[in-house]
Amino acid sequence: MTRDEIDGGRYEIEGGVPLRGEVRVSGAKNAVTKLMAATLLTEDPCTVHNVPRNLGDVSINEQVMHSLGTEITWTEDNVVSLRTAEITNTVVPLELGAKNRLAVLTAGPLLHRVGRAVIPAPGGDRIGPRPIDYHIAGLQRMGAIVEDHDGLYYFHTAGLKGATIDLPFPSVMATETLIIAASLARGVTVIRNAAIEPEIMDLIKFLQKMGAIIEQRVDRKIVIEGVQRLHGAEHRALSDRNEAVSLAVAAYLTRGDVRLIGADQSTLLTFLNTLYRVGLDFNVEDDAIRFFGSDQPPRSIALETDVHPGFMTDWQQPFAVLLTQARGMSVIHETIFNDRFGYTYELNRMGADTGLYAKCLGELGCRFREQDFPHSCIIRGPTPLHAADLVMPDIRGGASYLLAALCAEGTSRVWGIEHIERGYDNLYVKLQRLGAHIERAEDDAPQL
Ligand code: EPU
Repeated sequence: MTRDEIDGGRYEIEGGVPLRGEVRVSGAKNAVTKLMAATLLTEDPCTVHNVPRNLGDVSINEQVMHSLGTEITWTEDNVVSLRTAEITNTVVPLELGAKNRLAVLTAGPLLHRVGRAVIPAPGGDRIGPRPIDYHIAGLQRMGAIVEDHDGLYYFHTAGLKGATIDLPFPSVMATETLIIAASLARGVTVIRNAAIEPEIMDLIKFLQKMGAIIEQRVDRKIVIEGVQRLHGAEHRALSDRNEAVSLAVAAYLTRGDVRLIGADQSTLLTFLNTLYRVGLDFNVEDDAIRFFGSDQPPRSIALETDVHPGFMTDWQQPFAVLLTQARGMSVIHETIFNDRFGYTYELNRMGADTGLYAKCLGELGCRFREQDFPHSCIIRGPTPLHAADLVMPDIRGGASYLLAALCAEGTSRVWGIEHIERGYDNLYVKLQRLGAHIERAEDDAPQL
């Protein structure tokens, strides 16, 4: 990232303070934003609860939908009502569409309602190339004509129809794009090799409330019987398992004791199992999970990221920081994105001992085998961390810097915080509530 690309604003974090107390986990970014897009399928009003209003991606979504004709009203702090009585524009503005990857979700609804859409090629995190070819190929199978010029996708159709679609990989958002588009398509759509993340199940629940007929079958098959009309619905989004993981790791790294209200065990099973494997303990309560550190360093582990129900790719960054404090050599094999370890260079600058390898250091069949992608990481620990000046590369890499800074000796300064503020709901305020010494300062760019 160049100096000019860095927005003003930084966090200053004094490390070494044990986090204690309780905070509520917000609604899931990766569910809420999809629920909002799905409301475009009906002209009726819809209401979504548990929406993190301060989250950058929610605000980008609001602006995209507003530009298409959606009236958006916040009835309470975390409750939003959306109504798209009429589509007034079919072009997602370039400056909004390029900020994240969400605009492609609007293609299906726009094609149903007005037969055309123009959507910018997506932006978002720098974690390796993130094409949308699966989304496009699936929509084409359903009868969309798609052309691609100068970074814009032009879609049109005389009517979407059901199709059988084989996804080359269980892509989360391609599955969501196609489920949304198939809900109103003529006939039956079968998505094979679909992703089945909890956020996708939340989208399916919401669409069912709107009148859609969607079945999850065995072996990653999702079958959608298109209906003629969807109506308004009300839904409470599930809680954010990525936020829960980041805060849980912060508790362990600072040897604190943190209760996360609303943390949902059913979406965190693999993470919780992994905690047991490295020797860490937690208590699952009725509507909360308590995470408490110990005086003993965690044990090392060999981990592989995978599609759900595997260990999430968005958890490897916080976990890597945790493993810098584990005794022995740990291995992480990233099988979802081919370039998601860039943040480890900065961890090394803070005193960590990590190394990247192109070889698959794991057992899972991986699309990056025999290619030159640094997608395996070895971490030796425990290594004390010291403060540094850092610039966040993306949402989860940024979270790893905050976590490293919370357990480092001294005061770190972190820029590029628009990434974390796009993906986490007031994380620094929650950390402050737990006793962390973290301040947000408006600031010019760093002298790096
Ligand atoms: N892929 C393609 N072509 C496509 C779509 C995906 O090649 O058309 C590849 C990707 O390049 C990647 C793999 O398939 O190698 C899986 O990507 P996926 O499509 O599942 O990712 P995504 O839907 O773009 C969502 C989350 C990510 C999360 C991943 C994996 C949202 C908005 N984003 O991305 O979250 O890491 O699934 O679970 O839901 C984050 O929240 O910080 C974040 C990056």
